[in-house]
Amino acid sequence: MKVHRRCQPASGGDPDRMEKIVETKINEVANGIYRLSTYVPDIAPPAGFTFNQFLVLGDEPLMFHTGLRKMFPLNRGALSRIIPPERLRWIAFGHFEADECGAMNEWLAVAPQAQAAHGQTGCMVSLNDFADRAPRVLNDGEVVDLGGGKRVRFIDTPHTPHGWDAGVLFEESTKTLLCGDCRSDDIAIEDVFKYSCLNPGMGATIRGLSNLAPRTLALMHGPSFTGDGAAALRALADDYDRRVLGQRDAVQQSAAA
Ligand SMILES: [Fe+2]
Ligand SMILES: [Fe+2]
Repeated sequence: MKVHRRCQPASGGDPDRMEKIVETKINEVANGIYRLSTYVPDIAPPAGFTFNQFLVLGDEPLMFHTGLRKMFPLNRGALSRIIPPERLRWIAFGHFEADECGAMNEWLAVAPQAQAAHGQTGCMVSLNDFADRAPRVLNDGEVVDLGGGKRVRFIDTPHTPHGWDAGVLFEESTKTLLCGDCRSDDIAIEDVFKYSCLNPGMGATIRGLSNLAPRTLALMHGPSFTGDGAAALRALADDYDRRVLGQRDAVQQSAAA
């Protein structure tokens, strides 16, 4: 699915030569799990920024992240190359934020059987009001059987990497961790965006995820990782511990000054 978008030239120039292409690419990151990936060059240039949604097939297909509301036409077009959008049954995401769930109600409108599913905090704080249909409340560790051999487990990860409603999904048959904004691919990017809610519990939370021994880490804003997911997550946990301890030291120095 491609959308040709006319961009304003920075200073003069021929607008016709400034046209950029925003395209949603599809690839299968694990058996029956598809990534819908949109690269936007104008966000955080010159590197640009990528938004990924994941479709888990099954008798009851599930999409993890809805994408931004303004990207809905792109993502609907991409999804329709895999399944009819009206077949969607579950809409899940990591936390309440525009790129994670901005298009939730657009998806609920095109898929009459679909229901948002999220943890207790997210439903209580946001979805009970925001979602056009009542959400399914998932307890920490609760499993949703999608049929077709696919089972996803919801795991609460409060404030990790951000959002008190934060959680991840683990697809058990493929050992795929849908881990949202956890950037195990490029830990240093925290230095640039400072998107994480640094807190003493996050290293332990991420080490807990490493115990799942995921084979694939499906990242929202980076490439999907296939390999020793446990090691990648432990490295991420170690890095967060280092950052949290650094913050604590800074607080102590400030208090002693
Ligand atoms: Fe986020
Ligand atoms: Fe995100």
